[in-house]
Amino acid sequence: MLSQTSASLPRYLQQEEILEQECIALISSLPKEKGWVASHLYKYQGFWNPPRHIQGIMTCQEHFEARDSDVFLVTTPKSGTTWLKAVMFTLINRMQYPINQEHPLLSKNPHDLVPFLEIKLYADNQIPDLSSFKSPRLFATHIPIFSLPKFVRDSSCKLVYLCRNPKDIFVSLWQFTNKLRLQEMGSNSLGETFDMFCRGVNIYGPFWDHVLEYWKESMEKPHKVFFLKYENMKERPADNLRCIAEFLGCPFSNEEEESGIVEQILKLCSFDTLSNLEINRTGRLASGEENKAFFRRGEVGDWKNHLPTEMAQKLDQITEQKFSGTGLKL
Ligand code: A3P
Repeated sequence: MLSQTSASLPRYLQQEEILEQECIALISSLPKEKGWVASHLYKYQGFWNPPRHIQGIMTCQEHFEARDSDVFLVTTPKSGTTWLKAVMFTLINRMQYPINQEHPLLSKNPHDLVPFLEIKLYADNQIPDLSSFKSPRLFATHIPIFSLPKFVRDSSCKLVYLCRNPKDIFVSLWQFTNKLRLQEMGSNSLGETFDMFCRGVNIYGPFWDHVLEYWKESMEKPHKVFFLKYENMKERPADNLRCIAEFLGCPFSNEEEESGIVEQILKLCSFDTLSNLEINRTGRLASGEENKAFFRRGEVGDWKNHLPTEMAQKLDQITEQKFSGTGLKL
C-alpha cells in the first residue's frame, strides 16, 4: 500500500480516482491485471494500459483533429522514442532552429518538445487547443493503430513507426519501470515481469501485436507509414535520417549535405550529447518522471547482460511464432 495520498503522487502513479465518470464506468468493465508501476493495467481495445493512459486515449479519440501536414512519431515504449523525438524535431525545424548554442534541445527534454497525444496533451481531462501550432505539427504517440483517432488514419498525415528487438525492449522496460516505482513499493522481479511481458501484459502490450499492426500498414501504405528499427538506426543513422527526411517531404539539399547537417543532427541527438545535458541529468517531466530515466545504456544487445538463456530463447520463440509468414524480423 502507498502511504501517500493520490493527490501527492506523481501523475504517472495516479489511478482510477482521477478519472472522469464516463471512463470509470468503462474501466470497471475491462479485464484487469496487476500493473508494473501504477497498481493496475486494464485491457482497452486489445492493449493493456493504466487508467490515466486509457482516459487520454479516449479523450484523444474523441477530440483530436488531424491536419494533412501532421507528422506522428509512433513507437512501442522503450524502442528509442526519446532519441527519435530529438532527431525528428531537429530535422523538421532545422530552418527555424539552426544547430547552435540556442538550440531548444540543449535546454529542453525531447518529451517537452514533442508531446505525446494521449500521455500529455489529452491526459488528465485536458482538451488542448492545437490550432495555433504551426504546420507541420509534430506529435508522438504509443497508441495502437486501430485505436488512433479516426482523423489520423483518414487524413494524409504521415507516421514514422519505430520498434526494437523485444529482448532489449523487455530489459529496458523492466529497468525503467523499477526506476519509476516509489522506494516503498520495492522493485518488480525479473521473473514476474518477464511472465507478464510474454503474456502481453505491459503498457501498450502485447508488444508483438502493436508492431505487427503498424508493419502491415507500412506494407500496404508505404507513403503513409515509414517503418524503422532501432537497431537499423544505430547501424546506419545517416542513411536512415536521409530516408526519414525524404519520406516527410523535407529532403536535405546539396548545400545542406555539403555543410554536414546530417552529421550535426546526429551528433546533437546522440546518446552521449543528450544524456550529459544538465536538463536531462536533473530535470523532470510535468508528469513526474525524471528525465534521466529515459537514458540508460542506449545500446543494441544489452539484454545479454540481464536475461538468462531460457528467457532469451522464450522471447525469440514467441517472436518467431507471432511474426511467422509476415516477413518481419526483429
Ligand atoms: P536502454 O534502456 O536499452 O538503454 P524510449 O525513449 O522509447 O523510452 O526508449 C528508451 C531507450 O532508448 C533506452 O534504452 C535509452 O537508453 C535509449 N536511448 C535514449 N536516448 C537515446 C539516444 N540518443 N540514442 C540511442 N538510444 C537512446
